[in-house]
Amino acid sequence: MSKNYSGTSITEMCRGHDQWGFYIPAISPGKHHSVLYELAPNSSGVPQPHIPRKPKHWDEDHVRMPYSRHNLFPFKENGEPEVLKARWELICKTLEKPIKSVEDLENAINHYNSSLSRFPLLTTLFEEVLDEVETTEFFDNLLPKIIKLALRLPEILPGSLPLLKKSISKSVSLSQLQISSLLANAFLCTFPWRKEVAMLYPGVNFIRLFSAHGQPSRTNCVVEKLKCIIHYFRRITAAEPKGVVTFERIYLPKRNISRWDVLQNNLGNTRVHIASNGTIEDDGLGFLQVDFANKNIGGGVMSYGCVQEEIRFVICPELLISRLFVEQLGDTEAVIIRGIERFSRYTGYGESFRWDGNFIDETPLDNFGRRQTALTVIDATPFFNSYQQYYPAAVLRELCKAYVGFYSPVIDNLAPVATGNWGCGAFGGDAKLKILIQLMACNSTQRDLVYYTFGDEELQETFYNMYMFIATNQITTSELWRTFCKFVAAKLPADQLYSFIQQSCFDSRNKPITYKNNTSP
Ligand code: AR6
Repeated sequence: MSKNYSGTSITEMCRGHDQWGFYIPAISPGKHHSVLYELAPNSSGVPQPHIPRKPKHWDEDHVRMPYSRHNLFPFKENGEPEVLKARWELICKTLEKPIKSVEDLENAINHYNSSLSRFPLLTTLFEEVLDEVETTEFFDNLLPKIIKLALRLPEILPGSLPLLKKSISKSVSLSQLQISSLLANAFLCTFPWRKEVAMLYPGVNFIRLFSAHGQPSRTNCVVEKLKCIIHYFRRITAAEPKGVVTFERIYLPKRNISRWDVLQNNLGNTRVHIASNGTIEDDGLGFLQVDFANKNIGGGVMSYGCVQEEIRFVICPELLISRLFVEQLGDTEAVIIRGIERFSRYTGYGESFRWDGNFIDETPLDNFGRRQTALTVIDATPFFNSYQQYYPAAVLRELCKAYVGFYSPVIDNLAPVATGNWGCGAFGGDAKLKILIQLMACNSTQRDLVYYTFGDEELQETFYNMYMFIATNQITTSELWRTFCKFVAAKLPADQLYSFIQQSCFDSRNKPITYKNNTSP
């Protein structure tokens, strides 16, 4: 845990227990929670698949399984007329033949997909980046294991995998083994492509990643992302994982979200820990960790993207499978993912991102077999530094999004939110505004706030001073909300947000206010 911080210590944040002692929701199968493995453990310790009586593998509400008998493919051979063939049969036959090179793999995948592009990124990885021994090891040893894992999908995941659709709160729990088999299929690009849903679901087949090309400055980090994925398969095929993961889509209608203009909560009641060093994934252990997401979950992970969300998805590749069944997020929706394992270390960020070897995740399991790592997926609005972000409608949208992401129906002993400059990198938001928005959302969902400024010491100090001002003057949510509204009306430059808030609170109370650090307005 980082020592260089302002505010409450992490130990105090844990309120007398360790960081694993916060409330954890149960896995209880039902209409709103599909559990695809048997809850009762067997002697192997690996959760066994749940076998339903009438599985749904090819309808509008479930993932279309590559092994469904309805998955047909137009096939033409030796000048004979085109016939529709069971695609899974074709996939199995094709992948049973030896694959010894990138070209063999391209040909195989193209055999059961129509008109795919070539895979220049794989050529770069195996012919330029890895040495001959590593390449031979991949084709002779690892790839056959990935293929075996993929082809076991009907046995590993015979159940119906529901789509987590827009405006419906629903959860799905899968074993890590089931996820690995789905990911092996994604790696081999076996999921059927459907035009009707292509815009709504980000998609998990690796085609786009394999076909990345261009200048090394653009593709180097994509190669490194692929190294993370290959490393994941190496680990997962060496020993069957025993844990489980829950994906929960949360939708709250607007009427169920706090009325920010009337909330009289004292914002200073929320405790904050602000650190300029540390990261969400390294230091936010046991807390509700924020994914700075795209509305299409995973963002650019399957292409060139390599910032917070994409990095998290490749060091914890089980997250990738959400792209198969999580529909694009609406404004009052979030996804909470519990139980993911981290497999890789990394260095750098963006173009300088590099895979840095194996990571042993020692996070303890909860009572349901999940690692106690919870990620809340919330997409900020892309503002690209526009003044638009200070407008009440824009602030309201971000407040509601953060509220949904931090919300829990149980309010006792909730884990603090571990977050940072959400929406303030690729999406160009103002960190000083977003911090206050996240503080308000934490306050109304009864969570404390742990904030990593990602090396920005000035932001640590500025925010802490602002927080102390808010706490000392017992500023409420509604007061801060009204001040935001007045700020835009006053048409002041963005960098005067904090001094405006202080002046405005001073004016409305008409009494002297203690300023920290001489930040008088
Ligand atoms: N821990 C704490 N803070 C971090 C970390 C980390 N591990 N990584 C980055 N930061 P960004 P956005 C800080 O740009 O603006 C993706 O493509 C760092 O200061 O990833 O919400 C998504 O798919 C960084 O500048 O998030 C979306 O499409 C800041 O957090 C889009 O980017 C913001 O990180 C989201 O962009």
